[in-house]
Amino acid sequence: MKRIIVTGGSGKLGRATVKDLRANGYDVVNADIAPPSEPDPRFVRVDFEDLNDTMDAFAGWDWGHTRQVDGVVHLAAIPAPGRMPAGEVMRVNTMSTYNVFETCRRLGIKNIVWASSETLLGSPFIVPPPYLPVDEEYPVRPKTAYSLSKLLGEEMARQFCDWDPDAKIVGLRFSNVKAIGDYDRFPEYEADPASRRFNLWSYVDARDAAQAVRKALEADIKGADVFVIANDDTAMTTANSELLREYFPDVSLKRSVGDHDSLLSSEKAKRILGYQPEFGWREGVDRR
Ligand SMILES: NC(=O)c1ccc[n+]([C@@H]2O[C@H](COP(=O)([O-])OP(=O)(O)OC[C@H]3O[C@@H](n4cnc5c(N)ncnc54)[C@H](O)[C@@H]3O)[C@@H](O)[C@H]2O)c1
Repeated sequence: MKRIIVTGGSGKLGRATVKDLRANGYDVVNADIAPPSEPDPRFVRVDFEDLNDTMDAFAGWDWGHTRQVDGVVHLAAIPAPGRMPAGEVMRVNTMSTYNVFETCRRLGIKNIVWASSETLLGSPFIVPPPYLPVDEEYPVRPKTAYSLSKLLGEEMARQFCDWDPDAKIVGLRFSNVKAIGDYDRFPEYEADPASRRFNLWSYVDARDAAQAVRKALEADIKGADVFVIANDDTAMTTANSELLREYFPDVSLKRSVGDHDSLLSSEKAKRILGYQPEFGWREGVDRR
């Protein structure tokens, strides 16, 4: 059985990821500064801002008879701009990501998947994107300390993989993550489309995001790479043609988009990782 440490496993995406990995036969330890909402014997408290604490958590867990860890999913972070002063977000996210990557390097853990962010694509798009749907093919445009911390994570991933050609560090640029209860707010978006312009009306179901994590862990690739991860549709009933006419009238389309097709392209993740979102909200939210 493969042994995986999930950082931030007590959080929104972490909970879905731990559940998905366990359901698919992985032995998972949740490493987080906060305990999970339900008691879990495979939980270790750790502050990823501290390198020694991170080393101790990763190296010290006794998985039965061996301490070998097969992979790390790094989700722990301040998950959005505006929740703390910018300098705090930068410090927590950048140091945590460095400490996790460095600990993996020291321990020889070569399979890492971590949470980057859609914000690197230019959110809140006060400057319109170069084209739509947005993808991984244009230079990133961080506009906040949060987004900048994710760019530094992507750059660290490239350098760590340069130091170790056998390492794999996959960054997933998640769209706005939705747990089941979050769908109750979609009517608010419909009433005020301008409020969701910042991320091009996109979203990703936490269960689909977790699927992307698992597929990235299982992908037979090497080096540092990044993938946009969104659901296939928008969060809106209003058609794209209307939204684009109102909010992005001068942006060209890279390919044709249907009325409710996501304006974040996950095509690269589908092609290379085999990602296939399953939990769209349009036919009714699957609340399992
Ligand atoms: N939620 C979104 O819409 C979204 C979108 C794109 C990317 N992401 C990224 O996905 C990841 C998970 O996001 P989430 O929505 O589950 O966030 P969350 O806040 O629900 O979970 C983050 C977890 O990280 C833990 N954590 C924070 N600082 C820590 C530290 N110093 N040491 C140990 N643990 C620490 C928290 O206790 C929390 O349990 C983050 O990296 C976030 O930036 C989230």
